[in-house]
Amino acid sequence: MYSAKMPDGFLWGGAVAAHQLEGAWNEDGKGMSVADVMTVGSASKPREITDGIVAGKNYPNHSAIDFYHHYKEDIKLMAEMGFKAFRTSIAWTRIFPNGDDEQPNEAGLKFYDDLFDTCHHYGIEPVITLSHFEIPFNLVKKYHGFTNRKLIDFFVRFATVCFKRYQSKVKYWMTFNEIDNQSAYNDDFLMATNSGIILKKMTDKEKEAAMYQAAHYELVASALAVKVGHKINPDFQIGCMINYSPVRPLTPSSADMLLADKFEQRRDWFSDVHVFGEYPKEVEAYIERNGYRPDITDEDRIVLKEGTVDYVGFSYYQTTTVSARNVKADELSDLSKAKAANPTLEKSDWGWEIDPAGLRIALNHLTDRYHKPLFIVENGLGAYDKVEKDGSIHDDYRVDYLRKHISEMEKAVEIDGVDLMGYLPWGPIDLVSAGTGQMDKRYGFIYVDKNDAGKGTLKRSRKDSFDWYKKVISSNGLDL
Ligand code: BG6
Repeated sequence: MYSAKMPDGFLWGGAVAAHQLEGAWNEDGKGMSVADVMTVGSASKPREITDGIVAGKNYPNHSAIDFYHHYKEDIKLMAEMGFKAFRTSIAWTRIFPNGDDEQPNEAGLKFYDDLFDTCHHYGIEPVITLSHFEIPFNLVKKYHGFTNRKLIDFFVRFATVCFKRYQSKVKYWMTFNEIDNQSAYNDDFLMATNSGIILKKMTDKEKEAAMYQAAHYELVASALAVKVGHKINPDFQIGCMINYSPVRPLTPSSADMLLADKFEQRRDWFSDVHVFGEYPKEVEAYIERNGYRPDITDEDRIVLKEGTVDYVGFSYYQTTTVSARNVKADELSDLSKAKAANPTLEKSDWGWEIDPAGLRIALNHLTDRYHKPLFIVENGLGAYDKVEKDGSIHDDYRVDYLRKHISEMEKAVEIDGVDLMGYLPWGPIDLVSAGTGQMDKRYGFIYVDKNDAGKGTLKRSRKDSFDWYKKVISSNGLDL
């Protein structure tokens, strides 16, 4: 297996999001977020998004793994693995419970002060996402989420408060998590989590239009935040965050190849705007042809240019294969129709294709396209774990997955010359799955005793992968 030492200062660690582990959903003044109205689902059953809290339903994010009260113990375990960085998000509703409040909630601000102090105590650098699938529910109900321009101001106010408060504690920031997920504009979960839009009875055309308008406001909000952040502390590194999945045609035919190109154009433009400060030509033409995004001002276009990001953060889970069997390039709008199974790849228990070399491809593509430092802020395998009688957990499948991905990452850095800031695999401690709300879809090196039904002691324990990852970090990537 290929391995290489990573550059000095390489940020090894792990990534989580507030709503997926903190719990304490209504403690110390926290308001209700969109994640708080999502029920538990399964590999085959989607989560339900309810209109407020409905008695008798299971909302797994309400208590999650209770990191809110266990963070000292949990960060200590991450320090034991040698973490250099820990990515989490600031729950918007801890700071502005309703999203449109005039004043922030001091108890919420204090929680993150303590969390970041704990990280620094162990020499762990916090990497912070501002909006990770947890928009205040009040903004969803009252303003229809990011379809309303007012959300720009609410987000920038939230970002400004965070930048000011944590300016000496946090250097690495990201604005919107996986902003490009909503290119699948007819997916209830992705539209609710990205933009706070509840689709309900909208037509496909209306959904697509809502997505382009909301995404535009998010991109403007992100650019404004970047500008404000750099003013508050010029040393801040503020990145975007995309879900990157290199696209390939199922066959070498030109029909499939053109479809692959169109698919990329329709999905990957979000980061173009973040990095270049302008819309790519194809997307601009598509939006204009269809009359989407009616509201874009000259000032917006200036802001986008002035607030470009410092680095590109991305998650990598799988590659995408497309086939013109079901949809031709010129008819492409619903991206899911273009997707095809890749016969060369195996799948996880949740049907996610496993393609370690795809990570090297992703790092090369993004480097060629953006010429910016890259940051892998998510990667990993969701799997069922078995606890043995003596409490041990032999998760060799997880080690195998991560080892192969890290090896490909190291090729990209060492052989291809990619400028990579760090590697933060998803869910170093078991947490609530975003997509399914399950606890039993586990990513962690640290096991948490809690199941899909919400039962368990919350006891933390080390899986076999814990010692393996510790060794990877202490050898700076050489010993895989
Ligand atoms: C990413 C998200 O899409 O994938 C995370 O940023 C999420 O929030 C992760 O948890 C894994 O997805 P899932 O559905 O397995 O939790």
